[in-house]
Amino acid sequence: MTGYRIGFDSMDHETDVASLPVEGKLPRWLSGTLLRNGPALYDVPTSGRPKTFRHWFDGQAMVHRFTIDAGKVAYRNRFLRTEAFRSVREQGKISFTEFATDPCGSIFNRFFNRWKGNVTDNACVNITNVGDRVVALSETPMPVEFEPDTLATVGVVDFGDGHGRGGPTSAHPHVEPGAGTMVNYSLSFSRESAYRVYRVRDERFAREQIARYGTQKPGYMHSFAITENYVVLAVYPFVANPLSFLFKDKPFIENFGWEPELGTRIVVISLADGSVRGEYTTDAFFAFHHINAFEQDGELVMDVCAYDDAEIIHATYVDKLRGMIPAPLSYAVRYRVDLDGGTVSAARLSEEPFELPRINYGAHNGRPYQYAYGAGATDREGGNFLDQLLKLDTATGKTKVWRAPGCYPGEPVFVPAPSASREDDGVVLSVVLNAAAADSSLLVLDARKFQVLASANIGHPIPFGFHGHFTHP
Ligand code: CO
Repeated sequence: MTGYRIGFDSMDHETDVASLPVEGKLPRWLSGTLLRNGPALYDVPTSGRPKTFRHWFDGQAMVHRFTIDAGKVAYRNRFLRTEAFRSVREQGKISFTEFATDPCGSIFNRFFNRWKGNVTDNACVNITNVGDRVVALSETPMPVEFEPDTLATVGVVDFGDGHGRGGPTSAHPHVEPGAGTMVNYSLSFSRESAYRVYRVRDERFAREQIARYGTQKPGYMHSFAITENYVVLAVYPFVANPLSFLFKDKPFIENFGWEPELGTRIVVISLADGSVRGEYTTDAFFAFHHINAFEQDGELVMDVCAYDDAEIIHATYVDKLRGMIPAPLSYAVRYRVDLDGGTVSAARLSEEPFELPRINYGAHNGRPYQYAYGAGATDREGGNFLDQLLKLDTATGKTKVWRAPGCYPGEPVFVPAPSASREDDGVVLSVVLNAAAADSSLLVLDARKFQVLASANIGHPIPFGFHGHFTHP
């Protein structure tokens, strides 16, 4: 029994399968494409000393396409042909600065002054559409466009706004509720660092600044929240001294340290005029993922997958994951911010560990909602990675669970049924690794009952990925 470790092996082959074997029955209405992104290559083939990307976030991006139509599932996968990937593949070299891996002999210090040259274009985290263009995203400001049918790489998107690329960003842009425009931020490091919140109106990718929020202690943020009127930055006390980037020769994330005495700062910024509605401090916590947020009776309600601290960053180095060292777990926590009174309260929504959250985004992003879907863990010590899927009722705290022996599911993507009348009318799609069988399947759950409808076997393992999205034809 190898356990979940095989989910962190390098996977090298690219395939096209016209029709995967399907067990069960796919709903007749389910038609469209699920695109998934994640790292697939960690070990650099080289004639010299073996080299390995150090962190889960550093593996080279592979895009997976599941096309569902008329009860059939087609599958295709391709590495993104980024410069980082080509360097690995053609020269056996790590030539670019990744999240936690530096190229051999490089000097990192220049790179945050001028984000060019050696910062990676390895967009291995997420996928989004801007108009008809499809891009893979990471935390460097270099979205990589690819062709959604062939998965052929088009190249790094040029923000047509004359501002250059900027600093680190989030791979979780939001759609502005009611407006449909994309919102994201980028962080610039300098004497006074700043988060710049911007909108992208159309597929030319031209950015329009909404707000600039300056800070002496920039924190690492993987995602942010949005409501009908606000962008919400939760700045965790996992912070960097900007000078560290200038003078110390460390990989990106190793410039950040945990300073819990700072607490977590919740910054609420108006989408209308970019003004700061308020800044609110609560106890220190860390999160990768916001679940959803909304405004209600003068309060901001913000649900996140919260960790006690930022140890999860260290627990997700490749050697730790391959060694199956237990990793900290996050829980769905609801923060209520009294926007005028200034107080913040926090309460767990459930005692089940909860990560990789998704909601019925199209209908409930930034608005009141009831259901969240996520990956959970049966071992509360984190010793068996993420080995179940959950449907969380945020109103009652009750959960429905899917799990199977030796199986490790990825992010559950909710797809609404065309005639949906309830929030949870639809299916949940998840790529599940079956460790014992050494293969992966696309799992289709009925979202309401959280029971299996069908599963399509890919015939080989897919390494653990991060995020993706579903588009209707
Ligand atoms: Co993420």
